[in-house]
Amino acid sequence: MSRIVYVNGRWVPEEQAQVSVFDRGFLFADAIYEVTAVIDRKLIDYAGHLARLKRSLEALSIPLPFTDDELLGLHREIVARNELESGLIYLQISRGAADRDFLFAADMAPSIVMFTQKKNILENPKWKTGLTVKTMPEGRWMNRQIKTVQLLYSSMMKMEAERAGADDAFLVEDGYITEATSSNVHIVTKDRRLVTRHLSNALLHGITRASVLSLAKEVALQVEERAFTVLEACDAAEVFITSASAFVMPVVRVDDAVIADGRPGPISQKLLEIYIKDRMASAI
Ligand code: PDD
Repeated sequence: MSRIVYVNGRWVPEEQAQVSVFDRGFLFADAIYEVTAVIDRKLIDYAGHLARLKRSLEALSIPLPFTDDELLGLHREIVARNELESGLIYLQISRGAADRDFLFAADMAPSIVMFTQKKNILENPKWKTGLTVKTMPEGRWMNRQIKTVQLLYSSMMKMEAERAGADDAFLVEDGYITEATSSNVHIVTKDRRLVTRHLSNALLHGITRASVLSLAKEVALQVEERAFTVLEACDAAEVFITSASAFVMPVVRVDDAVIADGRPGPISQKLLEIYIKDRMASAI
């Protein structure tokens, strides 16, 4: 079945979904996005994604042409129209279309696109094995807290990691890990502290990160929000990443360093379990 995609006020089969070649999202990466997980037709962590969407738009002075109710309505409608039991909703808002110019008018009409990706996100085979990662230099711009569609560097680094036989890349700036290519990175120290980089413009403020931190006390972990080095990660009891698509994903190797015994650790596994339980209970 072809997906039904939302494009600028219309619901169309994916083959007919089109935006202008003059769209600034296409020409300048002048667009922001959100990815929200769906389980049992319900939205996971929706309030967090909505709040970040608004922050990203505000940072770029792109207006949101919907009320909260209308936007929630669009999410519900795309789930219903695509019979999306489990998977992801991708929402992108660009500044809109105009003749190519580095300057843009203040009153442009934004372009809005939404589509779904069906997948059984409650059965990720990588949760059992964990990921291997390669460290790579950080090369993105300095406003990573804005969820823009400027994903080329991350995409290139993920390709390079794959060519090197790894699953993902950790981006490193001045010896400290900023993020993985599309997720936040966390370590559990041998004395049970959950160390995660503090919020700043160096990283995206992950919604899953925030939820997992709020659950840390349930596994008797003390949270420490600060930058940590590659060396600390290699020496950690556990390393894991978080994102709306992989939830809590263990990392078992960083470059040549095997983390602990090379298998997903008990704390990451427990955090994954309680994250899913807790977030499904609050899904809308
Ligand atoms: N990526 N950091 C980066 C650079 C990301 O792209 C993402 C999410 C995260 C995790 O944020 P959250 O927990 O809110 O999903 C961190 C999404 C899933 C993507 O681009 O597909």
